[in-house]
Amino acid sequence: MQYFKYHNSELYAEEVNLVELANQVETPCYVYSRGALEENWQAFHNAFAETPHRICYAVKANSNIAILNLLARLGSGFDIVSQGELERVLAAGGNPQQIVFSGVGKKSSEIRRALEANIYCFNVESPLELTRLNTLAQEQGVIARIALRVNPNIDPQTHSYITTGLKENKFGINIDQVAALTDTILSLPHLRWIGIACHIGSQLTTLDPLLSSLDKLIELYETLRDKKIPLTHINVGGGLGIRYKDETPPTIDHYVQAVRDRLGKLPLEIILEPGRAITANTGILLTRVEYLKSSHDKNFAIVDAAMNDLMRPALYQAWQDILPVVKTTTGEEKQYDIVGPVCESADFLGKNRLLTLQPGDLLAISSAGAYGFSMSSNYNSRPRAAEVLVDKDIFHIIRARETIRDLFALESPIG
Ligand code: LLP
Repeated sequence: MQYFKYHNSELYAEEVNLVELANQVETPCYVYSRGALEENWQAFHNAFAETPHRICYAVKANSNIAILNLLARLGSGFDIVSQGELERVLAAGGNPQQIVFSGVGKKSSEIRRALEANIYCFNVESPLELTRLNTLAQEQGVIARIALRVNPNIDPQTHSYITTGLKENKFGINIDQVAALTDTILSLPHLRWIGIACHIGSQLTTLDPLLSSLDKLIELYETLRDKKIPLTHINVGGGLGIRYKDETPPTIDHYVQAVRDRLGKLPLEIILEPGRAITANTGILLTRVEYLKSSHDKNFAIVDAAMNDLMRPALYQAWQDILPVVKTTTGEEKQYDIVGPVCESADFLGKNRLLTLQPGDLLAISSAGAYGFSMSSNYNSRPRAAEVLVDKDIFHIIRARETIRDLFALESPIG
């Protein structure tokens, strides 16, 4: 939170006072710090030093094109999972040669577009995807570079909804089946097999599961090397967690060191796909208290942001710190459930938070820069929030608040 700090009891994003920002932009709105974003990306990059690497930021975490553009300017690559994400990266000035395309359900139209853009690599997740990709590449008269995304069957010790590397998950190809697939892959003339990839889950707070999966990848690499398959990279996915409450995840530096120690001696480029660790702590969600009410032994603060704006608490019972934008010393401190206006009891942003509140007060929901806006929806016909990027003492609106008209602009009654 170094970029979100109090001065004289008021919260600032870098040098911008959040009370003033909220008065101008209105709430709810996401506020991101350019300084924090660049620092996080550089931390990954610098920790690799001379080791050949490529940092492919996972676009799903925060896909605003202003954010993608800043990362592209630093030289970042991108991990995409849809044509929408591809077009965002291209619109943001990202280099197609730095794009890897993950996902279990790539449609033919999406693959065609990615081939046309000449992306760096497809992370293939099933045998049928191999043949589909080969056929489409043949039709376009090109060669598709591929990595096999393998499923190592390792428990990443995180929330079950964001576990991806267990055998019951839909992701990747069973690591034990890869050796048997090699002849098939080599027989497909429009594919060039350049790497192996793995992503075991998200919000990982210990290194052990990752390191175990790397050991399995190394073993696989050695088998493939013995079969004379000339791989050039190993992709370890994303997943590094952040501190939301009291977790103690490894630092970016420590994490990269551990990856380098395990893989640095192989003659391979290392690809990472971090999302959350780059953007989560660069953003907050700013919201205003509309009403306070108490019933039985519960106090509710009803705010103008809701589960449609920030889904993580409802979906994963996730904890995100909630801070008063103006610290006050007068008034009674109470335990509040911070809830939105949406008609669902899962519509909460935080429960049992000790705060001193008045209607009209502003709250900042922390660590909202990843999987915040990108997972938001229009549920209850709520226009999606504005997004703002702070750069030292100025701020830019990088996504205008949706209007009521936008909500049904694509709809029409039948004639
Ligand atoms: N690579 C692949 C193939 C992925 O599926 C993901 C995330 C990442 C990279 C980036 O992972 P990260 O570094 O951000 O952990 N909505 C959830 C997180 C879902 C993550 C999905 N895949 C949340 O809000 O916690």
